Amino acid sequence: MSTVINISYILASILFIFGLKMLSSAETARRGNMVSALGMLIAVVATLFYQGMSYQWILLGLIIGSLIGATAARMVKMTAMPEMVALFNGFGGIASLLVGWAEFHAARDSSSFTLIAISLAVLIGGITFSGSLIAYAKLAEKMDGKPLLFTGQQMVNAFLLVAAIALVLIFAFTGSGYTPLILMILLSLILGVLAVIPIGGADMPVVIALLNSYSGLAACAAGFVILNNVLIVAGALVGASGLILTSIMCKAMNRSLANVLFSGFGATTSSSAGGGYQGEANPVSVEDAYYILEAARSVVFVPGYGMAVSQAQHVVRELGELLEANGAEVKYAIHPVAGRMPGHMNVLLAEANVPYEQLVVPEDVNPIMSTVDVAIVIGANDVVNPAAREDENSPLWGMPVINVDHARTCIVSKRSLNPGFAGVDNPLFFKENTRMLFGDAKKSFQALVSEFKES
Ligand code: TAP
Repeated sequence: MSTVINISYILASILFIFGLKMLSSAETARRGNMVSALGMLIAVVATLFYQGMSYQWILLGLIIGSLIGATAARMVKMTAMPEMVALFNGFGGIASLLVGWAEFHAARDSSSFTLIAISLAVLIGGITFSGSLIAYAKLAEKMDGKPLLFTGQQMVNAFLLVAAIALVLIFAFTGSGYTPLILMILLSLILGVLAVIPIGGADMPVVIALLNSYSGLAACAAGFVILNNVLIVAGALVGASGLILTSIMCKAMNRSLANVLFSGFGATTSSSAGGGYQGEANPVSVEDAYYILEAARSVVFVPGYGMAVSQAQHVVRELGELLEANGAEVKYAIHPVAGRMPGHMNVLLAEANVPYEQLVVPEDVNPIMSTVDVAIVIGANDVVNPAAREDENSPLWGMPVINVDHARTCIVSKRSLNPGFAGVDNPLFFKENTRMLFGDAKKSFQALVSEFKES
């Protein structure tokens, strides 16, 4: 039976890898999800054939977990997805911690190898759990999103880290039992909190990706604890893909990975500062915006969090089609951290059936932006803030943005001149070639579509 189980695990691991590969393109992503889910089904069924399973507990966990999961998935708003992901990461962490603890309690194997694996599952799991709860609280605005700093923070973190390593060694090599384990759990929970509280505003996406990676590494360690091959592979895949995502996010936010990992990051760039940019914003009526668009031969849409809030993606696609029918070339430029979660804008535009070929990344669209007739910003703010290029004192300085201000005309659809997630003022609104289309994005775009249809 153990051979059959292990072959099933290999099959499941192959399906995970192919599933992940397919997730990298919008066309194959849905199938990729199914392939990975099939892999997980095979892994779960194979695991049920292990000897000594207590099916009644598994069934109870399955029922409770499914009920909570299904209810949460139905109730959560699309805009609250990032908070939900943060919580999921946290639950992954606490599960690994509990697996490590339970295995130690069962005292099946007290070799140093197993004890080190238990320590890692407990430490990384605990950090992931408490760190994710803080990330959740910040994202859900149950806690102030600003960085929370105190003097000597780095020293305290370094001290706690050294203490954690010492505890791992004591736990694994001296056989001193429960006391170092409990201390390790407490320390990991404190470390998780301390790691996330100094991070604020615009750096949150990096934290989410990193915590996702941690939850994978904790699961991988738990896999070594219970010697389960598929858990080791799946955990390593989540850990590695989370790290890759972290690195992509870091690039998009202009931070180095080392800076993210080893410093109280966010402290320098995420204040709720504003540049206090002065000037007069030029409002535009729907009718005038229509005339500008009607004359345009090339149009770039730049969606942001506001498009998700107003659920404008369908009407945006409708306007895109009308512009194309009018002879314009239409593109959708997506910034990697637009919205509130990785791929947020891709998901919304895919839901609205925007053709994948029309999506472009900032690196491709920025060089040709000066040849674009109209760039339309739909509820985006931080990701199009030219202060990132122009103002060394801006907290966003150095972050790659979409240079919509380089287009011949830029139309910004939002409700006010208020700043976005990072709390940083935006000089784009006062540029000569910018026209502010004030109001809810969905309503503004519906009005624009009506203008096109009536003409
Ligand atoms: P933001 O900078 O957050 O700006 C969104 C804008 O949408 C707001 O300024 C708001 O302006 C507008 N808005 C809200 N509701 C609207 C509505 N109904 N109609 C029209 N506009 C509306 O968004 P962004 O440019 O997408 O940047 C994302 C930010 O979130 C970055 O700072 C990023 O670091 C951060 N973040 C990203 C992620 C990921 S992974 N994507 C995760 C967490 C945080 P008004 O109030 O004036 O309408």
